[in-house]
Amino acid sequence: MSAQDLTGNTAIVTGASRGFGRAIAVALHGAGAHVVGVARDGARLADLRAQLGDGFTPVTADAADPVTAGHLIDAHEPRILVLNAGASPLPRPLHQHTWETFSRSWDVDVQHAFHWTREALLRPLAPGSVVVAMSSGAAVQGSPLSGGYAGAKATIRFLTSYAADESERARLGVRFTAVLPQLTPATELGAAAVAGYAARSGMDVASYLKDRGPALTAEQAGTAITGLVTDSAQDQRAYLLTAAGLRSLG
Ligand SMILES: NC(=O)c1ccc[n+]([C@@H]2O[C@H](COP(=O)([O-])OP(=O)(O)OC[C@H]3O[C@@H](n4cnc5c(N)ncnc54)[C@H](OP(=O)(O)O)[C@@H]3O)[C@@H](O)[C@H]2O)c1
Repeated sequence: MSAQDLTGNTAIVTGASRGFGRAIAVALHGAGAHVVGVARDGARLADLRAQLGDGFTPVTADAADPVTAGHLIDAHEPRILVLNAGASPLPRPLHQHTWETFSRSWDVDVQHAFHWTREALLRPLAPGSVVVAMSSGAAVQGSPLSGGYAGAKATIRFLTSYAADESERARLGVRFTAVLPQLTPATELGAAAVAGYAARSGMDVASYLKDRGPALTAEQAGTAITGLVTDSAQDQRAYLLTAAGLRSLG
């Protein structure tokens, strides 16, 4: 895959119906890839199909279902996987969670990253393929209003690094990397978290955001992930993603 030209390559993006995933699908499509977008909301995927045309294949499915991962990898033979789907945590302090709400990010985010990563290694994807998994800045800083979210996202970073080890050991030539975006109000998930932290601090959202620097936009995430996919020199295991772009975490 050469600089910013993905013509002839297929990308699968999970969680493509809105937020970062939708912007990543648009950016990869703009770089020439055929994009298969997976999410549960068929109407939003149909809207993206209307925007992008034949270069986008919508798939209405649960990305955390292991059959979804195996079936779509076999059917589309992607060179690019963006494992972006994620559940919105219930924004409450620890003691107001139940085990079910606390562990939601494990059932969706981690389970989905596990199944897709496993399938990528088992098949295996063709040499030169890239798997990007969406972790979170919360994996480093914690997220006290999000139940098990931060730990789940840290596990996705570990899991991706383990997969990179297995790829190297078996000389698969498949690049695995985790991206840790900074919290941003630009998506539904991020806006709910920002509103929760602002309320907890006794601030309105604008005051809470004032000292946090420029907010990452979904479009910037799309551009950054496309750059990561197309630049084989960006071969680190993990990157922090802010409005300033990607920064290696080694
Ligand atoms: N926004 C932030 O501040 C931030 C910061 C760090 C990391 N992240 C991570 O970035 C990723 C994208 O988040 P976002 O902010 O763009 O959130 P979002 O706007 O809420 O979008 C989440 C996406 O995930 C999909 N999804 C959720 N469960 C799914 C399932 N079981 N199967 C298939 N798709 C599923 C949703 O689609 P359907 O509902 O249609 O299925 C939607 O497309 C997440 O992994 C999130 O944890 C976000």
